[in-house]
Amino acid sequence: MVAVETGRLGSAVRSEFPILAHTTYLNSCSQGALSHRVRSAYEEYLAGWDENGAEWVVWVERADAARAAFARLLHAEPTELAVTTSVTQGVSGIVSALDLVTRPKIVISEHEFPTVGQIAHAQELRGAEVVHVAPEPDGSIAPERFAEAIDERTALVCCTTVSYRTGHRHDVAEIARLAHDAGALCLADSYQAIGAIDFDARALGVDFVTGGTVKYLLGSSGLGFLYVRSGLLPQLLPTQTGWFADEDIFQMDISDYSPAADARRFDAGTPPVPNIYAGLAGMSLIEEAGTTAIEEHVAALATRLIDGLEELGAQVATPSDPARRGPLVCIRSTDVRALVDVLAAERITCSERDANLRVSLHLYNVEDDVDRVLDGLRRNRSLLG
Ligand SMILES: Cc1ncc(COP(=O)(O)O)c(C=O)c1O
Repeated sequence: MVAVETGRLGSAVRSEFPILAHTTYLNSCSQGALSHRVRSAYEEYLAGWDENGAEWVVWVERADAARAAFARLLHAEPTELAVTTSVTQGVSGIVSALDLVTRPKIVISEHEFPTVGQIAHAQELRGAEVVHVAPEPDGSIAPERFAEAIDERTALVCCTTVSYRTGHRHDVAEIARLAHDAGALCLADSYQAIGAIDFDARALGVDFVTGGTVKYLLGSSGLGFLYVRSGLLPQLLPTQTGWFADEDIFQMDISDYSPAADARRFDAGTPPVPNIYAGLAGMSLIEEAGTTAIEEHVAALATRLIDGLEELGAQVATPSDPARRGPLVCIRSTDVRALVDVLAAERITCSERDANLRVSLHLYNVEDDVDRVLDGLRRNRSLLG
């Protein structure tokens, strides 16, 4: 088994997360664990509101601090980031900027999160044609399948970075290259990756990246981001907009549409201030640990888990090659609801999608967590596929 290095990771950070004192928490793919720091950030927001009433200047500064934090996590510039309330807002903003007359086609992988698929299909009302790219029998989605679907009528290609259903990591760089060869744009929904892997938007060459703070960024719901590659901005005008997307927010001008020159043109209304306080606190924990160190830590834990699952004879839906997976390991089950419940009864928190048990690993997990879930699965061997 692979040994896991600990620095500001694993046991060194566990006391920051009260739930870990009593629960084997393997559900960061759904919601990251609550930290003392995030709880204090909410209290700070309430205290400022209580003390000073409307703290608009501070709140706008906090929104820009979140923009800068997202940019650092993506190795991008703050001018390439919109602060959103969700992935949904970001994707809706993108499609609202597309010319679907000249290029009516939107290509999506079968592993897109429902919101991406539903927004794509909603564009059929505007004349869009949506093409799905199917996975291989092993659950991977090969770039060649994307190549077959993309053509000169394609406006947008959506390829999620890490599948929320199987844990496969897709070859975003190659899919972006295929999209660009046909003159199309490429979106990587990276919610299941950001905070748990080192993510370089520019190196991947992708046009848009979206995600949020609920999972591996350790914040709460109601805060997300949209990265827009800077070179694209002059040609992209979202028609889904709002006053916080205007070039001068406080001019209060209702006579025209004058969006910000940078990616803030994809912001919308009043920023989600409480969630920004929480998101900043969560992201600070990630930045202190460092995404490269987190990625190594999580990869070693996932390897330990997959090795143990193989010894158990379980069917693992996620690839064993660390380059082809992220923090999520999915295991086939004959009755996944029952399996989640029996593990929960032992205070082991996992989740489910399709017929897969989802075990997700993050900076605060340790080898003992992996061994506990393996023991739980050994005791419930009959529920494994
Ligand atoms: C891959 C992925 N995309 C998007 C979402 C959520 O989208 P939204 O922020 O619009 O709720 C999730 C989380 O549940 C997800 O796992």
